Amino acid sequence: MAATMRVNGVAVQQKGAAALAAPRPAAPLRAASAQQRAAAQQRAASLLVRAVAAPPAPTTGAARPAALADQDKSLQKPTVVITGASSGLGLNAANSMAQSGDWHVVMACRDFAKAEKEARKLGMPKGSYTVMHLDLASLESVRQFVQNFKNSGRRLDALVCNAAVYLPTAKEPTFTADGFELSVGTNHLGHFLLANLLLEDLQKAPTNNPAGAPRCIIVGSITGNTNTVAGNVPPKADLGDLRGLRTGLDGRNASMIDGGEFDGAKAYKDSKVCNMLTMRQMHQRFHDSTGVTFASLYPGCIAETGLFRNHIGLFRTLFPPFQKYITKGYVSEVEAGRRLAQVVSDPSLNKSGVYWSWDNEKSSLWFDQVDGALENNVSKEVSDDAKGARLWDASLKLVGLEQ
Ligand SMILES: NC(=O)c1ccc[n+]([C@@H]2O[C@H](COP(=O)([O-])OP(=O)(O)OC[C@H]3O[C@@H](n4cnc5c(N)ncnc54)[C@H](OP(=O)(O)O)[C@@H]3O)[C@@H](O)[C@H]2O)c1
Repeated sequence: MAATMRVNGVAVQQKGAAALAAPRPAAPLRAASAQQRAAAQQRAASLLVRAVAAPPAPTTGAARPAALADQDKSLQKPTVVITGASSGLGLNAANSMAQSGDWHVVMACRDFAKAEKEARKLGMPKGSYTVMHLDLASLESVRQFVQNFKNSGRRLDALVCNAAVYLPTAKEPTFTADGFELSVGTNHLGHFLLANLLLEDLQKAPTNNPAGAPRCIIVGSITGNTNTVAGNVPPKADLGDLRGLRTGLDGRNASMIDGGEFDGAKAYKDSKVCNMLTMRQMHQRFHDSTGVTFASLYPGCIAETGLFRNHIGLFRTLFPPFQKYITKGYVSEVEAGRRLAQVVSDPSLNKSGVYWSWDNEKSSLWFDQVDGALENNVSKEVSDDAKGARLWDASLKLVGLEQ
């Protein structure tokens, strides 16, 4: 990474406004059908128009406090931003943190009406959360979200990169507004840009938050770790030599990171490897200089979430009992949300560069469920920091942060 990538002496990738404005170099859209390409282009065009002409994306859930920007941030409630907080793990973590009374939760969601509805359904206290629009499948939307968040005047104590798409039955690739294969574009590249652009805010967080220091948590998965039984179910995660990513992941030369044939299940697993490698890279690059704690986690198999919405019906029926009674890896959405909230706010989980998980069997026998987070080992590929550095450089370029 270029040594010049510093902001006010802090090792982030671009200066605030310049980074927010920087467009990704235009990516040709090729491999998808003409219809898909036209739709993606139309979407990109409309986003561009919106970014230029539109007022800030709406926020709901709590009135935006007018005086927040002028307030001493140490007097504000500590704030956590959770992406994909409209469903599953993210929603339940948001609920757990909002109900604790210690945190203000920013639910960063592509469908803010759904997020608001789900928050109300769970009885999240009014004023304990704000819904803000974020579509990770558009770099412009990520930049707009960051600008809106900064404009809100809120402090930032924790960022949770949680949202994801999983397209195991897709026969051909689909693409983000910027022309990246959708799983890696959303799960990895969208979060990569977001985490880099918000690092400065995390670093500036006042010290009075329940965790003791700011945190950036990127949700990983057992499926991306080939040192596990689940990680060895084909197709296995494998980023290869990253040739597909380096050529743009836009379907022109490749739609898979390793340059191979498109496989929706593998694309998801690859994106999870990217998430965990990114966490390790951020730890190595920024932990000492910023004081931010970086971590990843596998909360358990939350077999009933919306993540499996694109899977075949029979799988969706059999998967939860299989995980409950055969593998014993099953965890409920509520418990998984509690685990994620724990990784964000438990002062004892302050080690940076760690991949947390829970042993369900041990949790029920010997460990208290809440305190049973264990530091886990990652696969050979996820611990390959030279590959992580190459992923970092290629990703910087694709999201327009390279100088
Ligand atoms: N389920 C599991 O067993 C399991 C296991 C290990 C790790 N994980 C990880 O847990 C995380 C959450 O998954 P989940 O199981 O809770 O799935 P989920 O219920 O489908 O939640 C995914 C969330 O991501 C959001 N999202 C998708 N595309 C987005 C985009 N372009 N922009 C913004 N938000 C977007 C979804 O929004 P909508 O509500 O609008 O669809 C939803 O809120 C993921 O990182 C996943 O890899 C899950």
